[in-house]
Amino acid sequence: MVQGRLHKRLAALEMTSFGQYVSYLFSEDGMRKEIPVMVDLISTNKTNFFREAVHFNVLTDVVLQEFINSKSFSTLRVWSAGCSSGEEVYTLAIVINEFFQNNKGYHFRLFGSDISRRMLEKANKAIYDTRDVETIPFHLKKKYLLKHKNKQIQKIRIAPELRHKADFGYLNFMDEEYEVNQMFDVVFCRNVLIYFEKKVQEQVIRKLLKNTKPGGYLFLGHSESINDMNLPLEKISPTVFKKKRQ
Ligand SMILES: C[S@@+](CC[C@H](N)C(=O)[O-])C[C@H]1O[C@@H](n2cnc3c(N)ncnc32)[C@H](O)[C@@H]1O
Repeated sequence: MVQGRLHKRLAALEMTSFGQYVSYLFSEDGMRKEIPVMVDLISTNKTNFFREAVHFNVLTDVVLQEFINSKSFSTLRVWSAGCSSGEEVYTLAIVINEFFQNNKGYHFRLFGSDISRRMLEKANKAIYDTRDVETIPFHLKKKYLLKHKNKQIQKIRIAPELRHKADFGYLNFMDEEYEVNQMFDVVFCRNVLIYFEKKVQEQVIRKLLKNTKPGGYLFLGHSESINDMNLPLEKISPTVFKKKRQ
């Protein structure tokens, strides 16, 4: 898969072998310029709005309801770890905004992180093809998506009231330490761990939990599990967990 995805790149650089490419990649110049290009080319960024939609029901029925019941008027902080091009972040923004509109006085902020700078750029711009927003219910599309003035251009942009709730930043889960200076009430890390070995998955979750508040929630993708891992998590549903308070 990696070879397949890099073949075109080798051709563009007029290189004839992977050996040549690897030498360039780990040169001083390559480390600076080529590694980000290679990461963009080999990462799998598939995502969509309202992906694994049942999670957003758990978010409203369990997590947001509990947040309101606690009457903590602090800002709800949500992290989309491995956010790709931002669809997960803006789905969260729509769902939470809808919920808080009926429960005045609550605020939220979203943070999306990814290893792919190209995806982060797209997430920041928040411009998508109209065919990519088909999974958003019609009444929410009308409310939160802006159409292009020129009807020929089949693009939409997420409304500023949601865009302004989100920040995006580069983060590689493989780094020993990474700087995330916030504690989150909710962490979505979906369809990211599948790419790692079991031992690495556990290490990544441990690091995510360092930035999760006690009593906070972790959402994993439907094909991911924490079976056989020794983590301070209580299962809420097969892929939703609550961080133990100790
Ligand atoms: C398949 S997408 C999932 C997007 C979204 N969470 C969803 O479920 O729709 C996986 C994302 O994880 C990111 N990723 C892969 N390895 C990573 C790493 N080591 N550190 C941070 N992000 C990584 C990829 O760049 C990609 O955008």
